[in-house]
Amino acid sequence: MLPVVNAGEDETDPDPRELARRFPSDFVWGFAASAYQIEGAANEDGRGPSIWDTFSHTPGKTANTDTGDIACDHYHRYREDVRLMAELGARAYRFSVSWPRVMPQGRGAVNQPGLDFYRRLVDELAAAGVEPTLNLFHWDLPQALQDKGGFANPDIVGWFTDFAHLMAIRLGDTVTDWMTFNEPAVYAFLGHADGIHAPGLTHWPTAIWVADNELRAHAAAVDAIKSEVPAARIGVAVDINHFAPASDSERDVRAAAAYRATRDTWFLDPLFGRGYPALGVEQHRAAGHLEGVDLSDPPHGRLDYLGVNYYRQETVHAKSDAPFDWEVRPRQGIELTEMGWEVVPEGLTAGLSWLQRDYAPSEIVITENGAAYPDRRAADGEVQDDDRVSYLARHIAAAADARDAGVNLRGYFVWSLMDNFEWSLGYGKRFGVIRVDFEDQRRTPKRSARWYQRLIAAK
Ligand code: FCB
Repeated sequence: MLPVVNAGEDETDPDPRELARRFPSDFVWGFAASAYQIEGAANEDGRGPSIWDTFSHTPGKTANTDTGDIACDHYHRYREDVRLMAELGARAYRFSVSWPRVMPQGRGAVNQPGLDFYRRLVDELAAAGVEPTLNLFHWDLPQALQDKGGFANPDIVGWFTDFAHLMAIRLGDTVTDWMTFNEPAVYAFLGHADGIHAPGLTHWPTAIWVADNELRAHAAAVDAIKSEVPAARIGVAVDINHFAPASDSERDVRAAAAYRATRDTWFLDPLFGRGYPALGVEQHRAAGHLEGVDLSDPPHGRLDYLGVNYYRQETVHAKSDAPFDWEVRPRQGIELTEMGWEVVPEGLTAGLSWLQRDYAPSEIVITENGAAYPDRRAADGEVQDDDRVSYLARHIAAAADARDAGVNLRGYFVWSLMDNFEWSLGYGKRFGVIRVDFEDQRRTPKRSARWYQRLIAAK
């Protein structure tokens, strides 16, 4: 058992007990991770390939040609990982199911050993008193479905719903908290317009179709899950960064508004039953992104909670008045994480307050927040990530400010439980509160993990 006090405690650390007092005793403190980023065991027990296997095995797509073949070997070490998070006091754990592990072709035949893994995982969590949040889609689409057009093919709505239904039947007795999608905007746009994520396409109309089908698949999956698990609480995690115009100029202000309308509200408005936002449609159309696309409004998302992933401020510099002719570039002199992301905790307060005011979701959960920093190991082996402690403390304080301002915030999940495969950036960027040495898979809770442990333990 990890001792709760004096472990890596430092008088200069922001006091977690004081922060904890700003949250109710039933606040959900959790850890988050995702299948492809941690599981490894890519070719074991009947798992089929996902688009991330294909992408990461394509030369030039990931830093250092890193892949998720082994990752944190969580598939074999999940017991140790559950024990570690339980010792840190986790009340909840957000994980995702690898669709090709349970349905290697994405539809049809079910892979029992894959399902058994998730059964063992949720049973282990239950035994440790950690509440699971099961996310159905964290970007690792079965390659066999991509070969049929993936999320650009409207049949995906049925394929996804069958997958959701399968998981609800198999795990609905243990899992109450569900997520359909993680960051649908990142999946659609980085994967199909920017080409920097799998499947690596660069075609805007395809990206728009993908987004549309994600929204339709979400709505259909909610029905499927609820038909098996009436008490299920189902959400989506959207990534809401804080968009700031680079200056007060009309151009920059307009560009920041257009960026938000083509990205955040592109998903939020339909999820809350309002159809696509007019400004977003106008901008996407003017940029040629809707060529050959016949948009009709997707169904209402019927969310039991809205998941919010927050990391940074994005400063928007307009280059001209033309649509999409803007650049996101950090402000001079601003504090940055190792990702080059602007550290602006008050952007979290502002974002949560905006969502509460404009959309009034039943509840909000921060489903991801965290930062990459280079690890420094002290002589005694401890990882002194004071920069991460400071980042977390300031963002959790910002979340408390949002609660004080009336935001109905129910939980907070730190990204991430442990260092993992950071997509196209490979293993070079470490987001974990637990250090992973990838050569021997050794886990070491960092100072931030001990700090978070004290926060959770404080009453
Ligand atoms: C989010 C992703 C997550 C991780 C963090 C750093 O966009 O959901 O998988 O990569 O960023």
